[in-house]
Amino acid sequence: MSEFPYERLRRFPDVEAPELQAHDATDLLLVERCLAHVADHDLTGSDIAVIGDGYGAITLALVDAGLRGIRLHQDLATGRRALVRNAEELGMLRTLDADGASAGVGPGLTASSAGDGAPFVPHELDAALLTGVRLVLLQLPKALAELAEIADAVARWAADDVVLIAGGRVKHMTLAQNEILARSFARVQPQRAERKSRLIVAEDPRDVPEAPPFPVRETHPEFGVTLAAHGGAFAGARIDVGTRVLLDVLTDRRSQLLMDGPGDAREGADSADCGRSDGQICGVVNEIVIDLGCGTGVLAAVYALTHPDARVIATDRSAAAVASARATMAANGVADRVQVTHDDAGSDLPDASADVVLLNPPFHLGTSVHTAAATRLFDAAARLLRSGGELWTVYNSSLAYKGELTRRVGRTEQVHRTPKFTVTRSIRSER
Ligand SMILES: C[S@@+](CC[C@H](N)C(=O)[O-])C[C@H]1O[C@@H](n2cnc3c(N)ncnc32)[C@H](O)[C@@H]1O
Repeated sequence: MSEFPYERLRRFPDVEAPELQAHDATDLLLVERCLAHVADHDLTGSDIAVIGDGYGAITLALVDAGLRGIRLHQDLATGRRALVRNAEELGMLRTLDADGASAGVGPGLTASSAGDGAPFVPHELDAALLTGVRLVLLQLPKALAELAEIADAVARWAADDVVLIAGGRVKHMTLAQNEILARSFARVQPQRAERKSRLIVAEDPRDVPEAPPFPVRETHPEFGVTLAAHGGAFAGARIDVGTRVLLDVLTDRRSQLLMDGPGDAREGADSADCGRSDGQICGVVNEIVIDLGCGTGVLAAVYALTHPDARVIATDRSAAAVASARATMAANGVADRVQVTHDDAGSDLPDASADVVLLNPPFHLGTSVHTAAATRLFDAAARLLRSGGELWTVYNSSLAYKGELTRRVGRTEQVHRTPKFTVTRSIRSER
């Protein structure tokens, strides 16, 4: 077997930078350990599930080693797209047609479209991913709740003799991860660290509770909303402090701006009657509102509940977020008015289609790479908004985003500031 060309893998369409790679030493350890296990236990590709493969390093190395029908779950839409592109580059899938999606091999590759003999078969984190599976390879997720949900799913659906091999970078690993795995498996054995990574082997699945433990739900009477959260969703079923500041402003200050009249509030749109006595906030008739990076869908749900005339779209690149947001909309009775999509930066939504975009961007301090994750979403908002449409953003006050927003979207004013968070409103400049 020739050496797999890990260095040819790319992260695109995710943020790329010289210090960011599309694979790490944990991927290599997982692949080596998997191939040894497959040889010892006579497994086929469809006996194996790969969870958390960032950009395809694990799955594609296994395909390169001759395995077929590997089951695969990736949370991020960006990772799913990167894996398909990497597979095409390596000649493992047929080339895309001009539309970017020929049958069963494009970015929309799904379990049902992948067909027999496919090198890998994508799934959500569900029974189809895991039923009968005997080996699970897992890149450990950041959040313990996400690990708990995955461990429960493996114990719930995989074969009784399943072996779960989880790996991570030593500097990011904690003993709490072993404890979480031990709730779902009777034997949990951390291995010796190698190349600054460590594997943990979990066996003997325990009995699981009758109902899956996720999504969890929490009601927030102050905003009249119930949130549902899968393990990987930002802030769980709680409301993040920054989100709370934006919600306070949206449910108070924004309605004030609308009441002040279209000139001050909404440029180029018709205001609804603001004399409501039913507690609903005034809005613009039939406005289209996008919650960009929706997480559990908290902003979309509160907006839909308080603006009965609005059509709301909630979108996130994380499948856990999307599943959570769908459950949140159902819990609040607004599923018919809020469309939830799994997408990278709203790329499937048309240009200039939105009146309002709501954004609590991924928060990271420090590197320019991390700022790029937020500025990508500013650019997406600029593309999605019609001229005169509004972007409402909350961010940590230590970040100098006002200038970025003005440059990328249009005139930006600070609407509210607490010691920690700043809320801005940007008006999309004429196209
Ligand atoms: C700080 S969280 C905010 C979540 C939610 N809006 C809230 O306020 O609780 C940022 C969200 O943006 C999502 N996100 C990051 N990059 C994205 C991208 N390129 N496309 C879509 N969503 C993205 C993350 O998955 C995460 O759910």
